[in-house]
Amino acid sequence: IPIRKFDFKGWRPKVLVQCWDCPEAALNVLHEYCDVTICDTIEREETLSKCKGMDGIFWVYSKLDKEILDTIGPQLKAVSTFSIGIDHIDVNELKRRKIPLGNTQNVLTDTAADIAMGLLISTSRRFLEGRQKLEAGEWQLKLQWNLGFDIKGSTVGIVGFGAIGQTVAKRLTGFDVGELLYCGHNKKPEADKFNAKFVTFDELIEKSDFVFIICPSTTETRKMFNAEVFGRMKPTSVLINVARGDVVDQEALYDALKNKKIFAAGIDVMTPEPLPSDHPLLTIPNCTITPHLGSATVGTRDLMAKLVVTNLLAALNDEQMPSPAY
Ligand code: DGY
Repeated sequence: IPIRKFDFKGWRPKVLVQCWDCPEAALNVLHEYCDVTICDTIEREETLSKCKGMDGIFWVYSKLDKEILDTIGPQLKAVSTFSIGIDHIDVNELKRRKIPLGNTQNVLTDTAADIAMGLLISTSRRFLEGRQKLEAGEWQLKLQWNLGFDIKGSTVGIVGFGAIGQTVAKRLTGFDVGELLYCGHNKKPEADKFNAKFVTFDELIEKSDFVFIICPSTTETRKMFNAEVFGRMKPTSVLINVARGDVVDQEALYDALKNKKIFAAGIDVMTPEPLPSDHPLLTIPNCTITPHLGSATVGTRDLMAKLVVTNLLAALNDEQMPSPAY
């Protein structure tokens, strides 16, 4: 999909791209209209040293706060983040300065739902443990060896029934689940399509065999999954987190998995990212970890980059961003 044309009437905005491996098609368009500065690392020091005087920023992953905004200066017209989540950005500070923020809605929905499904199957059927036992020469030809739990007929709970949550629900209709539950702020009319029942968070965690976390990280959801919640989940339950690491109290998760308070977890997000290679969570076989691959396909990353650039160019040209975060 080509990026639409813009007319800056001779003005060449200064833009910082806070990554060095931006998909080429999108980066080329940015070069066509703007004077582009590229960061060679994601380190804060480098961003701070290069961001002064920018009109727009193509932002990736790290914290965008008052110090960075002050360093950039008052001419900043637009911020566009390479993510759907905006928890790494001081939104209040941007709003106070009347700077529009773009994110990447709608382009990664299917890809993120797919990783959730992948984690569901790999955890419920113990892929990681099976592989580890195989490598250790512990594959046993026994009938009760490395058994998992069926998805068919199970109760599945989705915490956060936005676009990705609904796409997971759509995927799940092919798995013949017994009951689909969801919770969030409001009942969603779209839920009827999937026969999904709106319940309280408490009911969801107590009844579900599989719990998906697909809600944003906010002051309300941070550490929503903690020791007390793990204590109320079924000991046979599986937790899948494709949202943000901090929605889960990670030490409590480690304890719950180690002491079999829950059966398994599949997490694509964690704290911190990257997770240190000697982190305790990597030592437990009933925890499947993928390194935040939620949007990591060639096609989706390409679409995301194009949307980030289009958001940026639109706002720099005093137009509405196609994917405004607020
Ligand atoms: C995002 O874009 O915020 C997601 O974390 C992608 O996985």
